[in-house]
Amino acid sequence: MPPAEPDRTLLILGGTTEAAQLAARLAAAYPGIAATVSLAGRTQDPRPLALPMRTGGFGGAAGLADYLAASGTRTVIDATHPFAAVMPFHADVACRATGTALLALTRRAWQAADGDRWIGVDTMAEAAAALGKVPRRVFLTIGRQELGAFATAPHHTYLARVIDPPDGPLPPNLTLLRHRGPFDTEAETELMRRAAIDIVVAKNAGGEATIGKVMAARRLGLPLVMVSRPARPAVPTVATVEEAMDWLGAHGCLPTRRGV
Ligand SMILES: NC(=O)c1ccc[n+]([C@@H]2O[C@H](COP(=O)([O-])OP(=O)(O)OC[C@H]3O[C@@H](n4cnc5c(N)ncnc54)[C@H](OP(=O)(O)O)[C@@H]3O)[C@@H](O)[C@H]2O)c1
Repeated sequence: MPPAEPDRTLLILGGTTEAAQLAARLAAAYPGIAATVSLAGRTQDPRPLALPMRTGGFGGAAGLADYLAASGTRTVIDATHPFAAVMPFHADVACRATGTALLALTRRAWQAADGDRWIGVDTMAEAAAALGKVPRRVFLTIGRQELGAFATAPHHTYLARVIDPPDGPLPPNLTLLRHRGPFDTEAETELMRRAAIDIVVAKNAGGEATIGKVMAARRLGLPLVMVSRPARPAVPTVATVEEAMDWLGAHGCLPTRRGV
């Protein structure tokens, strides 16, 4: 294996399918590449990655800048989730402070199609209010961190799907379904039918792994409260792993030798 090239050291800010896929692509194309994937540590049992992993926050933008300098990182790929509202800004600040190249890898948002009954909102509090006064059977596919927002609408009955159990306050009448995606349209349709769901709440995460609920709501003619994405800093951005590989290559961020 050729020695790592220190001036090509990469840090992938992860927690997404794309981060894992990019790690796999880099590890396969450049064996021994000096690259690390960083996870916040929210998921108790994260899927294994093809590159070395570090876990836990850096201690704000300043902590990240220190880490970048100490590790000799030359390029950061911000492949955090489209709903990660803080880390992209820390990455922008830390990379500018240290002269580190930064690329955001953010999948495209889903778009409503003809006949979709989307109710667009900006926050989870607005999503809870959008459910209305009449009691409904609500499918919450928003992860576990913001379920507490629905405590303000206790008259509904909730089915919430999560990977890990939530902590903090929760709405009453809540059933938890612990499952990790991907979820296909057939299974989502069946689940919504069986649970007699009459409205769905989702974050506009985009991508293929969780689009099944959007398709199922479309198929069943159900209203879907769609929470839009938080703001992101203005940095170079691509939407796919393929585009990220091209960008890294074009900007001299990859080792000069490929694996065989
Ligand atoms: N929000 C979602 O809906 C969602 C969904 C799926 C996956 N995720 C993933 O879960 C993680 C946390 O999400 P969040 O919404 O809490 O993010 P966030 O609000 O943007 O970040 C909060 C703090 O978590 C730490 N952090 C976030 N991403 C990190 C990473 N990749 N490596 C190390 N530290 C990280 C940072 O702590 P310090 O300031 O101490 O550095 C950051 O300030 C992210 O990696 C994201 O990709 C989020």
